[in-house]
Amino acid sequence: MEEVTASSPGKVILFGEHSVVHGKPAIAASINTRTYVDAWRNEEKGIKIEADDIKVPGLTLSFKEDQIIMEADYGKAAEILGYVKNAVDLVLEKTNLDSGISLSISSDIPVGAGLGSSAAVANASIAAVSELLGVELDNREIGELGHKTELSVQGSSSGIDPLVQAVGGIIYYKDGEFTELPFKEIPIVIGYTGNKGNTTKLVKEVNNRLEEDPEIMSPIIESMGDLVEKSRKLFENELEQNKLGSIMNINHGLLSSLGVSNKELSDLVYATREAGALGSKLTGAGGGGCMYAFCPDKQEEVSTAIEIAGGTPILTGISKEGVKIERRE
Ligand code: MEV
Repeated sequence: MEEVTASSPGKVILFGEHSVVHGKPAIAASINTRTYVDAWRNEEKGIKIEADDIKVPGLTLSFKEDQIIMEADYGKAAEILGYVKNAVDLVLEKTNLDSGISLSISSDIPVGAGLGSSAAVANASIAAVSELLGVELDNREIGELGHKTELSVQGSSSGIDPLVQAVGGIIYYKDGEFTELPFKEIPIVIGYTGNKGNTTKLVKEVNNRLEEDPEIMSPIIESMGDLVEKSRKLFENELEQNKLGSIMNINHGLLSSLGVSNKELSDLVYATREAGALGSKLTGAGGGGCMYAFCPDKQEEVSTAIEIAGGTPILTGISKEGVKIERRE
């Protein structure tokens, strides 16, 4: 039986989360931590999804004629299934399916940590099912369908996560358009608070603050956009490490002013700076989730500092590779 495996990396937003929702640019990078989706045809009609290893206990769900049959429910894992179902439906719109499809998901990206677990599962599902059914999509098109999936499930999304995760590397992104930046090794350590922020809710809260107090809040969003332009120049020319670190610190301060940081994130941010990081900031929507520290030659010290401050260090690197079709070893 033909079986296809597709994988998608996770991501970190290096600069510009939240302001990107308001038309400003952002810079994001794919990371070496991936989600895998196997797809094969089955005899029954409908879509069957198994999620055995997604860094939360597994479950099996079946969708039949709009009915969801849940064989087990293990909390957080259920959240990703809306993304899978929507992603598969978008591919099925492009073809005539004469059988059922089974999907099996496994992931090294913690769910709901701000590292792009939802976009990764959407991208990898789209890539696996389109490859299985002979629907030709390039990586950019996979990212665009990943964005549509996020819009249906979350209601709002700038599209930066599915796009950077589909194409890989480091990108400068603005209003759906992107430019690949020259690939540079950026030694980072991610710190996971263990808590989850709700992206939809946080984006809405920032919107509300902007509407209530535009004189104060709009300049913050403007400054975030300016920081992204400054860091873009560093990527395109010489990557002056101290300058890059300083932009991260300012960006974190501005995100705090928007109201999307919290004590857990700030504790990790300050602990990593004290341990020698050149810069550190929250990454993604905030309200929990993750921060990252830019720490050339200090990764061990910074990891220890994250643990002492109550977080979980995630050692990963920036990845050149976006979505790919492969066999898992
Ligand atoms: C992306 O990881 C986080 C936000 O910028 C939302 C978005 O861009 O869709 C807050």
